[in-house]
Amino acid sequence: MIRTNNISFSYTEYGKDEDLAPGDLELVLAAREIALNAYAPYSNFRVGAAIRLKSGIIIKGANVENAAFPSGICAERSALSNSVSNHPDDIPVEIAVAAMTDEGITAGFVSPCGSCRQVIAEEETRIGKPIRILLSGRNNTIVLDSISSLLPLQFNKTQLKSNLP
Ligand code: THU
Repeated sequence: MIRTNNISFSYTEYGKDEDLAPGDLELVLAAREIALNAYAPYSNFRVGAAIRLKSGIIIKGANVENAAFPSGICAERSALSNSVSNHPDDIPVEIAVAAMTDEGITAGFVSPCGSCRQVIAEEETRIGKPIRILLSGRNNTIVLDSISSLLPLQFNKTQLKSNLP
C-alpha cells in the first residue's frame, strides 16, 4: 500500500495586544514580566513562560543559561518543571511564551524549541488533555489548541510499546 497523508492545523492570530481576551493578555503579560528575570548572559535573549493551572494559579519560568551551554534551560521547561514539581495535581490549561532582546520585546512571536515541544507534549500525555499555547510578540500573538500542532507524529509512550504483538 502506498498513500500520501496530509497533516494541517489551524491557529488564531491576534495583531495587537488589545485584540486579545483579557485572560490571554494577562498570561502574555506574565510571560513578558518573568522574561525580565532570565539569566541569559550568553545570548542576551530573555524568554518567559507563564502557565495557567486549572485552579487559576499562574506559574512562571525564565531561561537560565550556563557557561556549559547545553546545561542551560529554556523558559518553557523551567516553568513546567516548577508546575509539575509544586502542583502535580493542578493541571496546566495553557502556556504563554514571550521573549525580549536588548531592544525590548521581540517583534514577532517566539516558537518553542524542539526539546520544549517534546516536554510540553509529555505533559499533555501526563494530564491526558491538550494544553493551549500562546506565542506572543510585539506585533502579533498566535494561539494554538495543543502542542500536537507544533509536534506532529510525536514520539510518546505509546511507541515505547509499539513492538509488542
Ligand atoms: N529559549 C527559550 O527559553 N525558549 C524558547 O522557546 C527558545 C529559546 C532560550 C534558550 C537560550 O537561553 C536562549 O533562548 C537563546 O536560544
